[in-house]
Amino acid sequence: MERTLVICKPDAVERGLTGEVISRIERRGLRLVAAELRTITEDVAAVHYAEHQGKPFFDDLVVFITRSPVMVMVVEGPEGVHKVLRTMMGATNPMEAAPGTIRGDLAIEMGENVIHGSDSPESAAREIDIFFPGLS
Ligand code: RTP
Ligand code: MG
Repeated sequence: MERTLVICKPDAVERGLTGEVISRIERRGLRLVAAELRTITEDVAAVHYAEHQGKPFFDDLVVFITRSPVMVMVVEGPEGVHKVLRTMMGATNPMEAAPGTIRGDLAIEMGENVIHGSDSPESAAREIDIFFPGLS
């Protein structure tokens, strides 16, 4: 089994889409190991998105992810679960996300793309340790 970190971003919580996102994850056969509504601080955002520090969109990304509560979740499934989640999420830019994906069905703007999912098992372990120490 493998675990990955999923975040329903502020836009998802504001729009009342957490149920829809969680429902898709559960219906796929994946299991929630932890889930909590939290407001991400600037410091935690900088650690979580460390790979993007210095990029032109970094400041906007931190403002966005800290603006209101998010639903942070640890999701468990078979090995490769992080890839399954990324496929379910769709392309980073919702304009390019395929219909049937979460972003392709529920979003239209790059900066308001509903969901985060870890991009590798290593990222998953690092990110789970930020939000739920000991659960990776
Ligand atoms: P995430 O980390 O949030 O799950 O998204 P991702 O892997 O699909 O995309 P990533 O490359 O990690 O970028 C993180 C978030 O930054 C915003 N972004 N804007 N304007 C731009 O070129 C740009 N590139 C990325 C997006 O909101 C993306 O989700
Ligand atoms: Mg990413």
